[in-house]
Amino acid sequence: EVTPVILAGGSGTRLWPLSRKSYPKQFVPLLGETTLFQSVARRLSGKAEKFSFGRPLVLTNSLFRFIIAEQLAKENIDPQAILIEPEGRNTAPAILAAALHLVSSKPDAVMLVAPSDHVVPDVSAFHEAVGKGLGAAQGGDLVTFGIKPTRPETGYGYLQAHSRPDGTGEPIKLASFVEKPNAARAEEMLATGDYLWNAGIFLFAAKDLIAAFEQHAPGILTAVRGAVEQAESDLGFLRLAPEPWGEAESVAIDYAIMERAANLSVVPFDAEWSDLGGWDAVWSHSQPDDNGVALSGAATALDCRDTLLRSESEGLELVGLGLDNIIAVAMNDAVLIADKSRTQDVKLVVEALQRKG
Ligand code: GDD
Ligand code: MG
Repeated sequence: EVTPVILAGGSGTRLWPLSRKSYPKQFVPLLGETTLFQSVARRLSGKAEKFSFGRPLVLTNSLFRFIIAEQLAKENIDPQAILIEPEGRNTAPAILAAALHLVSSKPDAVMLVAPSDHVVPDVSAFHEAVGKGLGAAQGGDLVTFGIKPTRPETGYGYLQAHSRPDGTGEPIKLASFVEKPNAARAEEMLATGDYLWNAGIFLFAAKDLIAAFEQHAPGILTAVRGAVEQAESDLGFLRLAPEPWGEAESVAIDYAIMERAANLSVVPFDAEWSDLGGWDAVWSHSQPDDNGVALSGAATALDCRDTLLRSESEGLELVGLGLDNIIAVAMNDAVLIADKSRTQDVKLVVEALQRKG
């Protein structure tokens, strides 16, 4: 049995104005009718060929806890626990809290950690990859999933395997893990052809992750252990104790553990995978027509190219004429019109609006 651990604490500001602080992108139907959170919960449930998924653990903050409970209920998924982080301390403390919570009832628990903002359409290919990694995880490795890189992306982690993937999809030992390289380093790694992107999905035995923190980040372990031991039940949620939690360093698991650990391996993942990080990614997943035009809601395009027009406001008709490379998203209370090459900068818009008050 594999226990799903779903990270759902992010605020997703690059998808403003659809994604809001109180209702971020993972809970909004971005593509089709289900939300990204519902899709990951569903993807990490049921029976695969070689294993079955247990009841999930979800990590979030108190703002999102009722949305999560409601969206899990829609999928008929009964969580093992919803852990509430008193404040966001990034992924290292969050994942460690899940591991500590799990081993208390199941010392040999194996966990599959996944973010809630990915698109992975081929669920059976994904289950097969998890199945391939299971032996390595039970043998003590921290297993990553590797995507063939297509551009010198600086927002991802890079995995250097000891040997090139041979097409069997079997796990390969890792020689190194490089989180978010600078542009020059990313170009270099892409050019060698020896690196894969880190998908941001991890498979390991909870006890091995705890051992890795003991070795590489003992301060975080002390703080998070306190927060888990003193956690309080609150209306079916488990609230981590704020004081010890606040002592944990705020850092991503990729830096705290993955860059340092020696017992890593990678399962190459060949099927489609995408991090829906910005509007350009939503555009490319919204089935643009031959001219590259994607429409959603009451939207009409005339002589447009490579453009996304999305109306989320009932009764509001959004019309584009002669647009090229534009993202337009209309809500009831806000409209974004942006150059598509600037979609990563939408977070700057949100910051500017926050300053305005
Ligand atoms: N519960 C909780 N608490 N979730 C969090 C927190 C937190 O404090 N911080 C981040 N998350 C969630 C995010 O919402 C997201 O779903 C996931 O954890 C990963 O965090 P990101 O901040 O989106 O990481 P990233 O995209 O920059 O980098 C990671 O993913 C890449 C692939 O998408 C790394 O693992 C990279 O190496 C990887 O390439
Ligand atoms: Mg991400």
